[in-house]
Amino acid sequence: MDTMPARHVPVLLRETMAALNVKRGGRYVDGTLGRAGHAKEIVALGGMVLGIDRDDQAIAEVEAMKVDGLKIAKGNHGELKEIAESNGWSEVDGVLLDLGVSSPQLDDAGRGFSFQREGPLDMRMDRSRSVTAAALVNESGADHLEEIFRNFGEEPNARRIARAIVERRVEKPFETTLDLADFVERVVGRRGPHHPATRVFQALRMDVNDELGELRRALEGGLALVKRGGRFAVITFESLTDREVKRFFAAHAGREVSLQGGGSEWRGELPRVKIVARKAVKAKPEEVESNPRSRSAKLRVAEKE
Ligand SMILES: C[S@@+](CC[C@H](N)C(=O)[O-])C[C@H]1O[C@@H](n2cnc3c(N)ncnc32)[C@H](O)[C@@H]1O
Repeated sequence: MDTMPARHVPVLLRETMAALNVKRGGRYVDGTLGRAGHAKEIVALGGMVLGIDRDDQAIAEVEAMKVDGLKIAKGNHGELKEIAESNGWSEVDGVLLDLGVSSPQLDDAGRGFSFQREGPLDMRMDRSRSVTAAALVNESGADHLEEIFRNFGEEPNARRIARAIVERRVEKPFETTLDLADFVERVVGRRGPHHPATRVFQALRMDVNDELGELRRALEGGLALVKRGGRFAVITFESLTDREVKRFFAAHAGREVSLQGGGSEWRGELPRVKIVARKAVKAKPEEVESNPRSRSAKLRVAEKE
C-alpha cells in the first residue's frame, strides 16, 4: 500500500485513453474531474466530456480553464447517471473514475488529508458536508473507531489504536493531523517503509467521504449509463477499492456453468460485460520514476456487451 495518492500529472494517461477507446464525437463521463488531466486529454482526442467533482475548489479551477467540449458539474459520482441524464446524456461511450485524493487536496495542509503536514483534522472532499475526521476521532465509540480502521484501513492494530485514542481524547481531543499521526506512531511503533498512520488516515478519509458507498453507486450507475460496446475504466490506489472494482466487473462478466444434461449456461449479473484486460494495468517503470504516486495505481477496464 502506498501513502495517500495524489499528483499533478494524470496517472496512466495513455493507458486510460486506450482503455476508453476514445472516439471523435464520443461522449464520456469523468466522475473524478480533479484538475481535468484525463478529461482534457479526452477532449484533445475529439471526445466530449461531462466532468463531475464534489470539491468546489476543483470545480472552480477547471471552470477557469475554459475548455471547449468539457461540461462541468458539481456533485457526487454516486449519482453520475442522474447527473448525466440531467445534462441531457441518457447514454455515453465511456465512463472514467480516477479515485483517491488529488494533489491540490493533499498538498493543501488546510484540507487535513496529509499525515505529513500540520493542519486541521478535516478530510472532507466536499466541505459542505458536516462530519469531519476530527468529529469521528473525538466522538465515535471505541468499537466504531475500531471498525472504521479495520474495514476501511485494513489496519491490523485497529483495536489497540481505537482504544488508545478514546483514552487520550478525554484529556485532550485530537485537533490536528500531526497530533493524530504522531500519536498513532507512539501507539504502534514504526516498522516498514510506510508511516504507521497511513492506514488510519486512509480509513478516516474513506469514512468521512463515504468512498466505498460512492464507488458502489458509481459502478452501478456508470454501467447502466454506458451504451453497448462502450467502456468503463476505473483507476484505484488501494487494495480495498481495487477489490471492489474487480469483484463488480467479474460479477457482470459472469461465467459459463456446465449443465447436467450437457451444454452450458451463462450465469452472472446483468448488464453483461467483457473484461478488457484480465490483469489490472499498472504504471510502467518510467512513469513510476517520474511520478512516484503512480506506483500503486491499478486500472481496470470493462466493455458493456
Ligand atoms: C485523483 S483526483 C482526479 C484527478 C484527475 N483525473 C486529473 O487528471 O486531474 C480525484 C478527484 O475525484 C474527486 N472525488 C472523489 N470522490 C468523489 C465523489 N464521490 N464524487 C465526486 N468527486 C469525487 C476528488 O474531489 C478529486 O478531485
